[in-house]
Amino acid sequence: MTTRIIGTGSALPKEIVTNDNLAKIVDTNDEWISSRTGIRERHLAKEETCSSLAAAAGKMAMEDAGVGPEEIDLIVVATCSPDSNFPSTACKVQESLGLYHAAAFDVSAACSGFLVALHTVYAYMNSGLSKTALIIGAETLSKLIDWTDRGTCVLFGDGAGAVVAKADDTGIIQFVQGADGSMGQCLTCDERSIVNPFNQEAKPTDYISMDGQAVFKFAVTKVPECIRQVLEESHTDIEEIKYFVLHQANSRILSSVAKRLKMPVEKFPMNLDRCGNTSAASIPILLDEMNRQGMLKKNDKIVMSGFGAGLTWGATLLEW
Ligand code: ACO
Repeated sequence: MTTRIIGTGSALPKEIVTNDNLAKIVDTNDEWISSRTGIRERHLAKEETCSSLAAAAGKMAMEDAGVGPEEIDLIVVATCSPDSNFPSTACKVQESLGLYHAAAFDVSAACSGFLVALHTVYAYMNSGLSKTALIIGAETLSKLIDWTDRGTCVLFGDGAGAVVAKADDTGIIQFVQGADGSMGQCLTCDERSIVNPFNQEAKPTDYISMDGQAVFKFAVTKVPECIRQVLEESHTDIEEIKYFVLHQANSRILSSVAKRLKMPVEKFPMNLDRCGNTSAASIPILLDEMNRQGMLKKNDKIVMSGFGAGLTWGATLLEW
């Protein structure tokens, strides 16, 4: 038994912030941001929250799949920017959408989170523990950003993407997933001190901090490697792949991965010009756009790959 995606949805905050808007608050400009990253604008949350975006994307995915609330038996939300430590975002989505027959929990694997959530659901379905699941990547990273740091504040956006997945005979063919905690310091956020009545030595709260070049090198090496691995392990020729749906971190990373795989960049759809880097939400938002534009046909083979803080990575080969 494997896992098949049967519906998609996405939700973006109403507020659009352009590179020119950012140039008014930090020393940057549209030319620098768009040439180094491919990003031109991003959506930033104002009245929306991580869980409200997650629920909106989830509702849309359920409508697309034609699945009612009583059918969902598992909700997994990937996020590293939840509204609260607890309850989890998944429990908030459950309440919001009335999915009272579902188990619900969050996973935290930063930009790889959506694939980690999908692989977790695969394990539940493969062992008979779930039949129909809602999988969501949702982020409001704007609250974790130091808005005086031009090196990071230009990169990220808020949003959520969701899929409904069903236990079926076709769908996910192969996946790989990995992590290297020894590289964790390349990309960090919010170091929280242990403060209790017996330990009062608090350090100041931290924001997203990144060694951009180390992350770049990691991504352009690890992503082609794990994509080749899923293809080899499933005896699939790379020419059979219609699209490579990658985490939307940076257009230069995606072009470099395409070059290393000797594939045309047209096979690597991008929306980061409009959405920026939405971490765990980027793959399902892009998948939803592709689905709604009719780019995905039954039996198409696609590869998805996520990479990010941890450091973590993953790749999934699936049949649509
Ligand atoms: N506007 C103008 N100038 C800037 C900006 C900015 N927003 N940010 C940095 N600069 C300046 C720097 O201060 C530096 O100036 P200096 O030469 O006078 O010291 C110069 O630009 C070059 O800085 P670098 O950091 O070396 O720039 P680089 O070419 O490496 O590009 C970038 C930075 C875009 C972050 C790149 O390293 C990158 O794409 N890294 C990948 C990381 C990534 O995508 N992270 C996303 C999160 S992680 C994830 O999703 C996996």
